[in-house]
Order: sequence, then C-alpha cells, then structure tokens
Amino acid sequence: MPPVDSAVREILEAHGQTHVLRFQDDLNEDERRALLGQIESVDFELVERLVETWVRRQPSPERFERIEPVPVIPPAELGRPDAREAWDAGEEALRQGRVGLVLVAGGQGTRLGFEGPKGAYPIGPVSNRTLFEYHADKIHNVQRRYGCRLPWYIMVSESNDEATQRFFRENDYFGLEPRDILFFRQGMMPCVDADGKLMLEAPGRLAMNPNGHGGCIPGMVDNGVVRDADERGVDTLSYFQVDNWAVKVADPFFLGYHLLRGGEMSSKVHRKNHPRESVGVHCLCDGEYRVIEYTELDIYPQLLELDDDGRLKHFAGNPAIHIISTGFVKRVYDHFDRFPWHCAHKKVPYVDDEGKTVSPEQPNAYKFETFVFDVLRYIGHEPVALEIHRQGEYTPIKQYEGSNSVVAARESMNRHWAEWLEAAGHRVPRTDGGVPAINIEISPRLALWKEEFVGKAAGRSWPMDRDLWIEG
Ligand code: UD1
Repeated sequence: MPPVDSAVREILEAHGQTHVLRFQDDLNEDERRALLGQIESVDFELVERLVETWVRRQPSPERFERIEPVPVIPPAELGRPDAREAWDAGEEALRQGRVGLVLVAGGQGTRLGFEGPKGAYPIGPVSNRTLFEYHADKIHNVQRRYGCRLPWYIMVSESNDEATQRFFRENDYFGLEPRDILFFRQGMMPCVDADGKLMLEAPGRLAMNPNGHGGCIPGMVDNGVVRDADERGVDTLSYFQVDNWAVKVADPFFLGYHLLRGGEMSSKVHRKNHPRESVGVHCLCDGEYRVIEYTELDIYPQLLELDDDGRLKHFAGNPAIHIISTGFVKRVYDHFDRFPWHCAHKKVPYVDDEGKTVSPEQPNAYKFETFVFDVLRYIGHEPVALEIHRQGEYTPIKQYEGSNSVVAARESMNRHWAEWLEAAGHRVPRTDGGVPAINIEISPRLALWKEEFVGKAAGRSWPMDRDLWIEG
C-alpha cells in the first residue's frame, strides 16, 4: 500500500485530524483514493472556525432591538393594476427566454423515510406521478405557452446525484430536452464529534452531509450554471424546493414583481396556519431582511404574538419560493466565506476503533449547513415579498402523515382540482363534510391555472363516480 499523500498527512497533522487515517492499511486502492479525495475537499480552516463557534463555545443567539413584519404584496389578481402590470412583465420575460429554473433537491429527506431521491416520491393519488414529473409537467406547459425553453438546473448532492440522474434517464427526462436539464452538485461538509474531530462512517469514508441549500450559490457558480444561463441569455431564476408539488414554477406575477422592482432576490410568503407551524418567518431584524427559522421561535417569542384581532402579527411564512437574478448570484458568491452557518446536533452512525459501525441512541455529531434565505440580507433593494394562497401553491411533503405530509398534500389536490371542475360546471361528489368523495388529479401539462382549465374543459365531460385523472 503506498503511503498516504504527504501533503494530505501534513494538513491533517496541522489540524489535529490524523485519526481519520487509522484504518488506511486495511483499505484497498479505490477506498484509499476516495478517502483522500474527501479529505482534500474539506476546508479545514472553515471547519475549525465552525467548531470553535458552535461546538466549543455554542454562541448566544443574535439579539435584535426591533423585529418587524416584512412588507407584503397581497395575493396577485389580474383585476388589480399593479398585478396586471407584473403579469405582463413576467410574460414578456418568459417570451424573451430570460427565465431559468433552479430546483434544490440535494437534501437527505430523512423525515419522509423514503428510499431514494425525494423527487421520485409518487405523490399523485391516481396517476402515481412523482414530484419530479409534476415539476416537469409544469415546465411543458410554460414552454408551450410562451414558446420558450426553460433551462432546468437541479441541485443534487453526492448522496443522491447518481440515483437522481438515473431516475431522469429511466423516465426519458419526462419528455423534456435533456440538454435543457443540468444537474449540479452542492458541496459537502464533514460532521464532527463533541471534540471537534472529523468522524468516519466507514473505515475509508468520512461522515459528511450536504452543505445546505445555501450551497446552491457557490454550486451554481462553480459548476457552470451561471455561465450556462449567461450563454442562453437567462438572467432570472425561479427557485423552488423538490418537496412542494404545487409550486407555480416561473409564475409570471412573481417574475414581474421581481423585475419591475429591480429585484435581486424576491420571495413568496404564505400565511402561517398557526404560530408554531414549522416554517421560517420573513421579517426585518433591525431593518435587515431575514428569515427566522421555526426552530428559533422560542428565542424570538415576539414572532408568536397576536394582534388585537387575534391574528398573527408575523404571518409571513416561508414556502421557500424565490426569484433570484443571476447577477445577484455572482455578487453574493464572493460573500460565501462569510455566510452565516447553522449547526444541528444529530445522531450520526460512526465506526469505532475496531472498525465496527455504531448507531448512536443520542445525538453525537454536529452538522453544519447554510440556508439560501440568508442571502436576503445582502439585497440592495426594498424587500419584494408576494403573498400566496396556500392551496394550489404550497403543499410541501415533509412526512407521511400530519401537517405538511403526503396525506395532507393529496387531500389538498382533491380540494384544489374539485374547485376547478366545479368552476367548469361539473358536479363533483362530496361527502357530508363537504370533502371531495373521489381522488382527483389534473395534469399541470393541461392547465396551471383555474381559468386555463375552464377554457380547456369546455365541451368535455368526465365520469365522477370513480377516481379521476385528467391528462395533459
Ligand atoms: C425549509 C425551510 C423553511 C421553510 C420550509 C418550507 C430550511 C432550513 N428551512 O424547512 O424555512 O419554511 O422549508 O417548506 O430549509 N436541500 C438541499 N440541500 C441541502 C439541504 C436541503 O438541496 O443540503 C433541499 C431539500 O432537498 C429540499 C429543501 O432544500 O428541497 C428543504 O429542505 P428541508 O430539510 O425539507 O427543509 P425544512 O426544514 O422543511
């Protein structure tokens, strides 16, 4: 076995981390090379800084003198002049081919307990369509309507890159042009133990986790996404998360508000359904645009306050839907080394000194992540936060049952599309409680908006005595 690269050993010695080589004599050549590659990818100075901040000292939370609600644009309706103007500007940008899509799908999806990339989850109750296919169907619709090509940039991580790309190949890219779909990998961060030591998940492998969706900023620059966008004349990116089947990708209203207000990064917000809902809150902290995570609500209890009418003052929940200008991505890229990092204490399996895998019962490891919404503090304009209605636009899947779950998403699909059918003059059977009595799915390829469906449904009829799937 050749000795480990001396440069790598020197780095490890300098940072007190040589223990990760303790099994090197038992590794085969491939394993040894893979471990070296992982070690070389680690930014040890950053890890040391994070260990000092989060593990040795555990920082006190930031304190703000004033936390105010972010100004919010009410849900867009064509009847309102500002919304009409935004719609027109958004449509124009789409026709001009200025718009691309960024999907973040690099997370580990542990809460859903689904083997495989989260986007491969078959969410459609009738069609079994997966989350990825739902997103693809919407892209078909927008491309057809505006005669444009929407490049789709999909962020994956080391842990799901191969499986995700295979899934797209096996499904023939859902009928989209493969050259318009670009997968890019986010960075990984090593997990550390309570002494700030790197951990091994196997004798030849460091325990690492994706560097959070904030990793899409360096990921887009380092992997040629921004260059590809520039070459295509795309300067405006519609950003969304894989777990929300309902998201309106490249929504003209949202694009238009962003563009008309000279936006660098804009956000959609939704009304939280209760004060402790597990979503971030958009707000202004001492005047700076922030999203405070749901895990920090007890640190900032003013976010739970109600007004005199009993309504939540800070209602602006974070559905994680943004428009980001490519120029802004390039600008904040230079700040990435100063990005705020977040830390989570988690259970991470590791190998002990005998090389046996131990699955801990208690949290034993610190994971570090960045969040994309943290770059909102760098925007050089007034916040652009557009309120949306939850139904038909925000129904994320975080777990199987309960709030924000597969079950809730399917119920919302039924409610949403029953309303479309009824608007088109059809009678949908409902239970005594008023809930649709059948499962309903309408392909986003056919219609993205109720008005579009009503137009296309004219003269058509469907049997309503069984589950209904209306294809595009
Ligand atoms: C997230 C937001 C929360 C928001 C909610 C809306 C964070 C920290 N918080 O919460 O403010 O209200 O969504 O649904 O994200 N991802 C990556 N790479 C990573 C980590 C995540 O691509 O390293 C992707 C996931 O694939 C997923 C998305 O980011 O598409 C969100 O991740 P998730 O862990 O589900 O976030 P939440 O904690 O639910």
